[in-house]
Amino acid sequence: MNKETLHVIDHPLVQHKIALLRDKNAGSKDFRELVNEITVFVAYEATRDLPLEEVTIETPITTCKQKMITGRKMAVVPILRAGLGMVEGILSLSPAAKVGHIGMYRDEETLEPHEYFFKMPSDIEERQVFVVDPMLATGGSAILAVEALMKRGVKAKDIKFLCIVSAPDGVEALQKAYPEIHIYTAALDEKLNENGYIVPGLGDAGDRLFGTL
Ligand code: PRP
Ligand code: URA
Repeated sequence: MNKETLHVIDHPLVQHKIALLRDKNAGSKDFRELVNEITVFVAYEATRDLPLEEVTIETPITTCKQKMITGRKMAVVPILRAGLGMVEGILSLSPAAKVGHIGMYRDEETLEPHEYFFKMPSDIEERQVFVVDPMLATGGSAILAVEALMKRGVKAKDIKFLCIVSAPDGVEALQKAYPEIHIYTAALDEKLNENGYIVPGLGDAGDRLFGTL
C-alpha cells in the first residue's frame, strides 16, 4: 500500500461519526446525514492542494492582496447508487462544480462491476474530477469508473477518489491500476469477508442510504 497517495482522514469528529454510521441501528435518515457530514471532512482534505492565485480586493477600508482558487473547474462524479449520498457534502464546499454520473452495480456472485449509465458534463476532460463512492471494497467499481472517465479523455492525474470506508484490497487494487490517483478515505478497515463485504464495514451502503434493505 502506497501511503503517499492514501489519505486517511482521522479527525476525531470523523471517527465519532464513523462509529455512529457503522451502528446497524442507524436508520436511513441518520445514515444519510452522517454520510453527508463525513463527506465534508473528506472533501476538505481532498481539496487541500487546489491552486491559488493572487487577486486584489477592495475592502471597505483599503485595498489588499488575497488568494483565490484558480485552475481547473471541478466535477463531482458519484458512482450510483451509493455515491449519490456524497454529492451534497462536496457541493457544499464547491457549489459551482458540475456533476457527472456513472451507474454501476456489483454482481453479487462474481463481485464484478457492471456499468449501466454514464453521463458527464461535456467538458469533463478539462476538469479536476472527484469520483465519490462511500465503499472501496475490491476496487473493481472504482477501477471501472476511472477507465470509463479515461475513455472520455480525463487523465488519471486529474482524478481523485473519495470514499468513506475502504478495504486494504480495494486500496491496493486501485493504486496498482492507477498509481497517480490519490485516495481519500474516512476509515481504512481490516479486510473483506467471503462475500466481498468490508469488515467491520457498515453493510450495504446503497441499501442503508436508500432504505432498500
Ligand atoms: C457498492 C458500493 C461500490 C461498490 C464497491 O455498490 O457503493 O460502488 O459496491 O465494491 P467494489 O469495490 O468491490 O467494486 P453496489 O454494487 O452494491 O451498488 P449500489 O450502490 O447500487 O447498491
Ligand atoms: N459495497 C457495500 O455497499 N458494502 C461493502 O461492504 C462492500 C461493497
